[in-house]
Amino acid sequence: MPDLPPKPASRPDKVSLWKYFRLFRKDILSAQPSRLYHAWMAEFRTPFFRSYMCNDPELVDLVLKGSPDDFPKSDRVREGLFPLLGNSVFITNGETWKRQRRIIDPAFEGGRLRDTFPAMWDAGVAAVERLDKFADQGPVEIEAQTSHAAADVIFRTLFSIPIEHEVAGAVFSTFREHQIAQPVVNLGALLPLPKWMPRFHSRKTKETAKQIRGLIEQLTAERMAEIKAGTAPDDLATKIMTTADPLTGDVFDTEEMVDQVAIFFLAGHETSASALAWALYLMARYPEWQEKLAEEAREVMDPGKIYFSAVSKLRVSRDVFREAMRLYSPVPMMVREAACPERFREREVPKGSQIVLSPWHLHRHDRMWERPDEFDPGRFQTENGKEGLRKAYLPFSAGQRVCPGSAFAMIEGPLILSLLVRAFRFEVVEGHEPVPQAHLTVRAKDGIWLTLTRR
Ligand code: HEM
Repeated sequence: MPDLPPKPASRPDKVSLWKYFRLFRKDILSAQPSRLYHAWMAEFRTPFFRSYMCNDPELVDLVLKGSPDDFPKSDRVREGLFPLLGNSVFITNGETWKRQRRIIDPAFEGGRLRDTFPAMWDAGVAAVERLDKFADQGPVEIEAQTSHAAADVIFRTLFSIPIEHEVAGAVFSTFREHQIAQPVVNLGALLPLPKWMPRFHSRKTKETAKQIRGLIEQLTAERMAEIKAGTAPDDLATKIMTTADPLTGDVFDTEEMVDQVAIFFLAGHETSASALAWALYLMARYPEWQEKLAEEAREVMDPGKIYFSAVSKLRVSRDVFREAMRLYSPVPMMVREAACPERFREREVPKGSQIVLSPWHLHRHDRMWERPDEFDPGRFQTENGKEGLRKAYLPFSAGQRVCPGSAFAMIEGPLILSLLVRAFRFEVVEGHEPVPQAHLTVRAKDGIWLTLTRR
């Protein structure tokens, strides 16, 4: 029997709606039946509305790559995230969303990432220094460390400041409090509750969201002043704040920029932190892959600094990072709404139905992947792996609403992974097998504990 990495237990096929709600509130991954790893589509009927999970690649393409106006983000997503995100690109629809993407996308294009690379490199070096304190000591909770590193990447690339900067550090720590106040914030959107039922945000949620936005506003207002004075550094924030919409000539005002920075921070650090933490866990669990990765890192990176062009040589690292995101997709599920009646696989889908796309299930779908639950980064060099990448691999979503940070994350992830594995050997801690759970992203129930020794 192959040694399979952890997978949440599935629920029995038939449970009452009430039991489903209860399981769902605990954890959406283990609240699902195992047939979703095999089905092309599943319909959930509740007294309030219908929900369709689509695994059929043609349906996934239709929803994501057809017109974004046909399958907008549902209002529930918006309601859950509004206190923190305001009108950020993650939750807007229609013309507002299109305009926001026209302004944001150029900042994340390939050429621009070359300019961003030195800041990512510095964050990676800082992460190695931070972890060095824990080397040759007892177990370390690694998710907290990757969160720190990924938040550092965001502040360095966006605002040219490290996480040690007073305001950056305050955003990071207040964000932790915010998550504790509202741990499954966007997943609430998946809960099949009727639309008329009011959603409450706790006082703590509102307070922490306000504090985070206040801190970000400070950074944004300062940057606006620097741009006017001609002294602004050439980073992502300056790029976004000085890019005019090619159609309307609009630029973001301070408030709209605060909304966008809030989502860059949220979407950009939680996700990368989750992927990096699982990748490190898998390296500890499968030492033969860890050694391959360490050898590649030494070859490509020694001596000292590498250049942007060398990132493409981190092939093992890229495949390991991809495989980590296949098994533990940072964003497990995405929700859309049918704006008009549809017909999916011979079934009528009424207007207003909830459409669920589940990278979690697609990535482990047994009709798409050979040995779906096995960890094998080598699979991406096989025909099945390549087909899987094309048809059943959606860590960044796809189509018009694809993650604008995907290319950024595919540089950041393998780079930091290689820097860490070049410096340390990671090992699992007996009796601490992590249990995957969907929080804002896929995290381990009691964290991921590893020991590390200096190489
Ligand atoms: C491993 C890292 C990352 C993963 C797995 C990831 C995944 C995703 C996914 C699945 C979506 C679509 C969500 C949906 O449609 O409901 C998304 C959207 C988004 N991501 Fe990422 N992301 C990552 C890193 C980043 C980074 C580094 C940034 C920016 C600095 C970023 C910014 C965004 C934004 C702004 C959106 C909203 C796009 C829109 O709705 O038009 N992400 N991301």
